[in-house]
Amino acid sequence: MAVYLVTGTNRGIGLEFVGQLLARGEQVIATCRDVDKAADLMKLDERHTNLEVLELDVTKADSLTNLPKRLADHTIDVFINNAGVYGPRDANFGNVNGDDWGQTLHINAVAPILLTQLLLPLLSASKLKKLVYITSKMGSVEDNSGGGQYIYRSSKAALNSAVKSLSIDLADQGFSVGLLHPGWVKTDMGGPNAWIDTQTSVSGMLKLIDELNVQNSGRFLAYDGKTIPW
Ligand SMILES: NC(=O)c1ccc[n+]([C@@H]2O[C@H](COP(=O)([O-])OP(=O)(O)OC[C@H]3O[C@@H](n4cnc5c(N)ncnc54)[C@H](OP(=O)(O)O)[C@@H]3O)[C@@H](O)[C@H]2O)c1
Repeated sequence: MAVYLVTGTNRGIGLEFVGQLLARGEQVIATCRDVDKAADLMKLDERHTNLEVLELDVTKADSLTNLPKRLADHTIDVFINNAGVYGPRDANFGNVNGDDWGQTLHINAVAPILLTQLLLPLLSASKLKKLVYITSKMGSVEDNSGGGQYIYRSSKAALNSAVKSLSIDLADQGFSVGLLHPGWVKTDMGGPNAWIDTQTSVSGMLKLIDELNVQNSGRFLAYDGKTIPW
């Protein structure tokens, strides 16, 4: 049994991570922005003693900086940075709004690194030392044949670049770092026409997280194990 910290868990891929981890008997600390708007997560909380729910809004500085204090008695073995936003769907050239861009960049790329910095003492106390960032194939520069979507694409490309540095910088301390694309998944973000369900996506990603180690650290992989070009 290991201790997993997962962000953005009231719906979608994050909620599925929590469900599958609990079913395996892992210890799960799940964050969401507002417990009063997290009915499905709170139903899981009622049924499982191995789940702890904490509020975290990564756009609020206090919420970020207080998290280590609220987790002070825990060692975190696996940190899954899942919370993310798409931003405006019409962010194509000629229609890009700077405020929306800044907000999306902060949630998708800046906050995961700030959180990792803040939580490093709790993560360093673990023997497993696994850091996982849920990114997107849309952040691949090489794979971009469609253009457009300036905000979401660049926010995930920024995340990828920062996490690659992290994988190098923390290697000496024994951390393994994974950048995972969940596939095109049926969630509020992915929409009903997406190709796979959350069960398929998350079971694939958990297999990759189980296999993550210092030798294969720093790779950009899809949920099915395929390598994605940077
Ligand atoms: N679905 C796909 O096809 C797909 C494809 C590629 C990558 N991804 C990535 O996979 C991850 C999960 O996506 P999803 O499809 O499950 O999306 P989703 O259904 O829209 O859920 C997003 C989650 O992020 C949380 N979140 C948003 N802003 C936040 C903030 N400021 N602070 C804390 N949490 C915040 C949301 O909380 P609220 O409910 O409070 O808003 C929600 O729990 C994201 O990083 C996304 O970019 C998804």
